[in-house]
Amino acid sequence: MESIDLIAAKVRVCKLCDLSKGRNNAVPGEGVKSADLFIIGEAPGKNEDLAGKPFIGMAGRFLDKYLSMAGIERSDTFITNAVKCRPPNNRKPFGSEIEACRPYLLGQLTAVEPKLVLCLGTSACTSLGIEYKHLSDIRGRRLDVDFYGVKVKVFATFHPSFPMRFKTKRDTFLEDLKKVKIILG
Ligand code: URA
Repeated sequence: MESIDLIAAKVRVCKLCDLSKGRNNAVPGEGVKSADLFIIGEAPGKNEDLAGKPFIGMAGRFLDKYLSMAGIERSDTFITNAVKCRPPNNRKPFGSEIEACRPYLLGQLTAVEPKLVLCLGTSACTSLGIEYKHLSDIRGRRLDVDFYGVKVKVFATFHPSFPMRFKTKRDTFLEDLKKVKIILG
């Protein structure tokens, strides 16, 4: 099994897809190496690309606030993204990019062995190979996922940029995060 640090070192020099060509820094992810909660976002944005750290911009601050309101501290988690390099103009990552990055996610999940994986939005769900039509089909409840032989408990909710933009979604987002807290015990 590869360590979190070794995976991060490989991600920083990765050239498995074209996203590597436009990046300032790859963003492997960070946090507690044996965290109970493993959070997956979509992709680094501008701030994350510049700093090499996940979720440090507006969506990150919104996420931190809502996690904390639900009784979860980000500092107790491991947090990463479906793809580790910023897509041009912050477009959604292509399926092929998510696929190219998947071995890193698998390595990180194997190393951390979390109690629960929190998927933020559709790219995160796709990165775990979850099949669904609409996020609403799987959002807000616990799922059992076999991720290439690694059995993981998953909870899917919105990407934070969605409730950040649409205020009417904020209560649901908070309720989801409170459910996550309850599952973690
Ligand atoms: N949005 C994401 O999905 N991930 C980040 O790291 C930042 C913004």
